Parts: sequence; C-alpha cells; structure tokens
Amino acid sequence: MGAQNDARLMSKLIKSFYIKARDFNHAGVASINIQNLLKSMNFDSRLIRRVAICGYESEMNVVMHGGNGSLSVEIDTEKLVLEVTDDGPGIEDIELAMQAGYSTANDDHREMGFGAGMGLPNMKKNSDQIRVNSLKGSGTQVQMVFFLPREGKAD
Ligand SMILES: Nc1ncnc2c1ncn2[C@@H]1O[C@H](COP(=O)(O)OP(=O)(O)OP(=O)(O)O)[C@@H](O)[C@H]1O
Ligand SMILES: [Mg+2]
Repeated sequence: MGAQNDARLMSKLIKSFYIKARDFNHAGVASINIQNLLKSMNFDSRLIRRVAICGYESEMNVVMHGGNGSLSVEIDTEKLVLEVTDDGPGIEDIELAMQAGYSTANDDHREMGFGAGMGLPNMKKNSDQIRVNSLKGSGTQVQMVFFLPREGKAD
C-alpha cells in the first residue's frame, strides 16, 4: 500500500452531535451539521442527499420517540457510516416499526406534520445497509452504511 493510501486511512474522520429528546426547537441541527461537513469535503451531491435524508429521519425519531442521544458520522476510504443512538424506551417490534405506514406518533407530532410512518422505510431505501438494534426499555441504535465509489476505478 502506498504512502498516500496510508495517510488517507489514518485520517479516518468521526464526528458526533448530541440530540436532545423532545427539543423540537433544535431538531434537525445534527443532520444539518453532517450535511455541511460532507459539502465542505466535496462529496457527491446525490450521496449527500441520501445521507441527509437518513440523518434527518433518524434525528427526528430520537426527538419524537426516543431519549437523549447522538448522531454520528464515520468517514472511511470506502464507506461512510451514520449511527444514531438514544437511551429512550426502545422499539418492541422492529419488523413492525420498519413497515411503511406504521407509526405510534401522537396528535402533537401529527399536527407538526410527522407520523406518516415513513421515516424508517426511507432510511432503508436511502442507505446501502441498515441495522436496527433495540430492546424495549433499553434504547435504540440504528446504523446505516453508504459505500463510496472508488476513486480512479471504473468498475
Ligand atoms: N428512536 C426510537 N425510539 C423508540 N421508538 C422508535 C424510534 N424510532 C422509531 N420508533 C418507532 O418506530 C415507529 C416508526 O418510525 P418511522 O420513523 O418509520 O415513522 P414515524 O416516526 O412514526 O413517522 P414519520 O417518520 O413518517 O414522521 C415510530 O412510530 C415509533 O413507534
Ligand atoms: Mg420517523
């Protein structure tokens, strides 16, 4: 492996942003920060859009349904990993929660325009891999992977 590749591997970047449960005034700030970071790093605009959708949907889920938590991004040479964790009530039936249209959003959430039950399905659609870990009573962790095109390789 060449010196240039070594340098790139060593500069793996991890950034993490705090998310406060029920704080609708600041909801969305973590995902905008990640979007701006990726823009400043000149990532492909389609990739940024996919990551932004996943970041925003997962952040809103923490604000509405979860507990305090964080949204983090890890940028590697071949992939970008978005991870959201919270210490809220957890998801009892993950398979059900992943279904389009399923929502436990309350009337207040619906008045603000949320609660279509499309957040998790959109996160699945816009990421290359998604893993949801949760147990009732012990928080939720969602990890999404986005594979990056290899530079200088036409495959
Ligand atoms: N972090 C979380 N903690 C606890 N429950 C969650 C969490 N994220 C999702 N859920 C559960 O999964 C359901 C489906 O989530 P999803 O994001 O698909 O829809 P929604 O948030 O209800 O509506 P929308 O995202 O369309 O506004 C939620 O209604 C909630 O019951
Ligand atoms: Mg949602």
